[in-house]
Amino acid sequence: MRKILLEHAKEGDMIARNIYSSNGNILLSAGMKLTNKYIERLQELGICDIYIDDEMSKDIIIEDVIGEETRIRARKYMAETMEMIKLSRTVDAYEAMKVVDSIMDDILSNPDVMVNLTDIRSVNDYTFAHSVNVCVLSLVLGTSLGYNQLRLRELGMGALLHDIGKNMIPNDIINKQGPLTPEEYELVKKHTTYGFEILKENNNISSLAAYVALAHHERYDGTGYPLGKKGEEIHEFARIVSIADVFDAITSNRPYKKRDNPNNAVEYLISMGGHQFDAKLVPKFLERVAIYPVGTTVKLSDSSVGLVVSVNRYMPTRPVVKLLYDCNGDRVDMGKVVDLMKEPTLFIIEDME
Ligand SMILES: [Fe+2]
Repeated sequence: MRKILLEHAKEGDMIARNIYSSNGNILLSAGMKLTNKYIERLQELGICDIYIDDEMSKDIIIEDVIGEETRIRARKYMAETMEMIKLSRTVDAYEAMKVVDSIMDDILSNPDVMVNLTDIRSVNDYTFAHSVNVCVLSLVLGTSLGYNQLRLRELGMGALLHDIGKNMIPNDIINKQGPLTPEEYELVKKHTTYGFEILKENNNISSLAAYVALAHHERYDGTGYPLGKKGEEIHEFARIVSIADVFDAITSNRPYKKRDNPNNAVEYLISMGGHQFDAKLVPKFLERVAIYPVGTTVKLSDSSVGLVVSVNRYMPTRPVVKLLYDCNGDRVDMGKVVDLMKEPTLFIIEDME
């Protein structure tokens, strides 16, 4: 299985993972063959990449730290929650807890799996899918920090619901393609306070979880909002969620910006460690995130091209790659595998997806 851009998909390609709508219904199932009509429909829905199975990727298994069922349930919960907030400014805290618990169970039962954000999402579903990913990434970091289950649940609730205040901001501003005016930006910033107000009214949501919604845009160096707090004045939960939030935002297609590859997101986090982010947390976070996830097509420094087949946990920039094309652009015999840990002169120069 490998991930490709939808624009590179062809009629006849076999879908390797189910593609879901935001309400959890299957749009196309794994095993189906793509037709031009399907491709067009997926493009209309704002889906940018898909997983396919073909000769060159048939033995590649892509694992994720949470199961498909957990992810779909969580995403559906977020879609319903956003609707509910519009109608009544309330949140079903009990269901949120069940969603967080199932994410936590999946993470705890896969302690060695690198986080490989494998979800396929439409740009229109950005906020739902983003909330779920921020929850997963925050819980993975919380686990690395040795949090107990109760603490993880509280962190997970805050992470899952961190952006719900966006519902109080007009959609055309949230989804605006292009830069915001200073007035619009001031309005967007209010999603932190709105989210906090909604959550703190709910007796079943802890004040710390509500605080995460308020403080997830605070920055370690004091340059964030809404209060401009800095360093340890910002609770660790909010410092964690800010890292998860920025990482997922950079690596996702958003209504106004095309996604960047995980490698650049990692470089950004490292360069901002000690500035925008807590320098002690960034390396802990990176321990579990796959920079070049399994199934990614990469170009190597000798111009050869291959597919990542496994990740070296302690050297994430040096995964194991199955070559597809050699340095002259000629197809390589199936099965030639290069472990970049053992080839110090070779390195990845581009994520080609
Ligand atoms: Fe936010």
